This record gives sequence, C-alpha cells and structure tokens, in this order.
Amino acid sequence: MFPVEIKDKIYWVGAVDWNIRDFHGYSTYKGTTYNAYLIVDEKITLVDTVKNPFKKELINNISQIVDPGKIDYLIVNHVEMDHAGSVREMVDLIQPEKIFCSAMGQKTMLAYNFPADYPYEVVKTGQSLSLGKKSVQFIETRMLHWPDSMFTYVPEDRLLISSDAFGEHWATSERFDDEVDRAELMAHAAKYYANILLLYSPLVQKLLADVQKLNLAIDMIAPDHGLIWRGNPGAILEAYDRWSRQVTGTKAVIIYDTMWHSTEQMALAIADGLIRENISTKIFNLRVTHRSEIMTEVLDARAIICGSSTLNNNMLPKMADILTYMKGLKPVNRIGAAFGSYGWSGEAVGHINQYLEEMKFTLATPGLKIQYGPSEADLQKCQDLGRQIGQMIKGPVK
Ligand code: FEO
Repeated sequence: MFPVEIKDKIYWVGAVDWNIRDFHGYSTYKGTTYNAYLIVDEKITLVDTVKNPFKKELINNISQIVDPGKIDYLIVNHVEMDHAGSVREMVDLIQPEKIFCSAMGQKTMLAYNFPADYPYEVVKTGQSLSLGKKSVQFIETRMLHWPDSMFTYVPEDRLLISSDAFGEHWATSERFDDEVDRAELMAHAAKYYANILLLYSPLVQKLLADVQKLNLAIDMIAPDHGLIWRGNPGAILEAYDRWSRQVTGTKAVIIYDTMWHSTEQMALAIADGLIRENISTKIFNLRVTHRSEIMTEVLDARAIICGSSTLNNNMLPKMADILTYMKGLKPVNRIGAAFGSYGWSGEAVGHINQYLEEMKFTLATPGLKIQYGPSEADLQKCQDLGRQIGQMIKGPVK
C-alpha cells in the first residue's frame, strides 16, 4: 500500500492485513487493517503504530512522506499489540522527543516491559498540545477498548482519531467509508461492536454524552481498524448510540447443537411458530456457524433461544462456548428460552437456563425437553413455544 492524505498534511500510514482469519476468537473472514496516522507539522507526530509483522509497511509508508527520523512525537492511543506492537522498533528508529499516552497507557506499557526510560508524557482528557499550525486534544476513553485507551482530536481539521472505537475488521483497498458498499460496511461495524464493545455499552453512552459536552466539531472519524468515516460520520455515531442502548427489533435468534437431529427438529419447529407470528428469525447450527457471526445477530435480536442435546450430563461443548462468550459480552433486556432432547438424564436444558438467568433474560419457559426423538405432539409444543415467544417479542420491552 501507499500513504493516503486524509486531511491537509495528515496521512493514513497503516497496513492492510488481508490474511488474518482469527482475531483472538473473532472470525475476521475478510481480514482487517491496522491504521496509523502521520501529522506533518512543525512537530511531526505519529499517532499509533501497527501489529508487529506489518512494521515494514508502516515504515515504508512514512518514508514516502518524511524521513522517519524526523518524527518528533509518538502518540500511543492504545497499548494492545495490534497498535503498539511496533512501538519498540519505531522508538528505536525515530527516537521521539516525547511519547504521549494516558496514565493507564504508561502503566500498561511498563507492564508489557517497554523500557522505563522512554520519554513518556502522560496526558488527560481535555489536555491540548500544539504541533505548530495544528494541535491535538486528548480524550481518555477508558475501557474502549482497554483501560489505557484514548482518542486524539485535531480541532483545526475536525478530525477525531478514535483508536478501536467506530472501527471494523475488514481489509479493503479503499480507505474511506464513501468508497465502499454501505450495507457491507455497516454490517462489519455492527459485527465489531457486537463482538468487541457490547459489554462496554454503558461507557459508550457516557462517551457519546461527553463528546457532546466537549462540543467537538467532527467531520471525519479515523479509527484504528477499517474505513475512515468522512461521508457521514453522524451515521456511525447514531449506530453506536442505538447499539449501546441495546435497541432490539422483532427478531429472534435460535442457536442449537444436536447429536442425532432431534434438537434440530425442535429448533425448526420453534422457528416455524416464530415465523407464523411474523418474527424475523435466524437459525444457527453451532457446528457450521462461528460464534462471532451469531453474536452479530444477537446484537438486535429480542429473543435468544438456545437448544442442546444432553451429553455426559451436560450441554454440548459448542453451546457452552457460545453461552460463555455471549455472557461476557453482556446483552441485556432479552427474552430467553432453552430446549433440547435427551436420552435418560436431560441436564442440558437446566444448564442453559443457568446461563440465561445469569444474563437476566426473561425466560419464556422453564425449559422444553423431549426424550429421544420428537413426536408430532412434541413438535406442536415446540411450535407453540415459538408462537408464545413471538407474542412476547411483540409485547412491551420490560
Ligand atoms: Fe485494535 Fe483493542 O485493539
């Protein structure tokens, strides 16, 4: 790739990772990007670096604009290794006068064994730094995505460099949101939110309020992953507001694993009942669907219905995987239901219910179990459960 000027004398100098398919458990089936930005002013400033294997691309991009040795300042918005993974090499190369980071950023860098004698300069929300004609303001965004995270805002250019927030894992040759398919872009952004930020939704709400209070004029948002929002940055801000309020629709997600297709038959019969109630219904067999794709659909689903056969007095392992993952991401205000077939003990439904209760879902049923294979009457009970959940979905959100 080559550097791209995103604002006057501000450049994207990051890297595109076309081949990554697993980002610590998130399926990045279309790759990702590690965005870094170079501000060329009296004080030349690099904002963030890239994952370590991509450092040559970063250096090559910077070198097409300035000699990296001429960089004065390094801003570390976030210490996770997909952004700080090349800091050591970049510090050796550029010998920055100062490294700006949050207090937690410095603490985290030291815990990652970065040298204590780096020229750290700890900054706080509201603090400003003149670079010459331009300046930068820092906004701490604790837990978005780590305790150390912060944004860097360039008021002269109405540019918000937003670290992990507002990003997508999507490798593209294009750099701007208005150059790609809008629907696909928003789908990647939703997946990113559902799998990375959903649990921090209360903090996202606070951040959006803080940004409003700070009265920042923003006409471009440049995240550290994916596309830069220049066409209509309000669209992603509105989406984050909706997602962080956990607004759901008339939609149900059925997730199941099955040994000999009995639980699968139950899943399909429940879906039949939901669809008869005009509920948009998505059905996922855990054997063929990645957890991060399911979580994306959970983002705006009102009901989460989970089915598993009983194996060794427990649920099937893939059901434990998705429930553990989902619980960590903290979806709230959902309707839940558990179902499954069993042979002689039938503990799976009870174990699923424990997860649903821990997530404070409203249970539509104490659990629907059938022994061995479902009869016509059993399938009717499943369809009835689907219809009942459909009615609940259409009812008031408690
Ligand atoms: Fe893209 Fe939290 O790192």
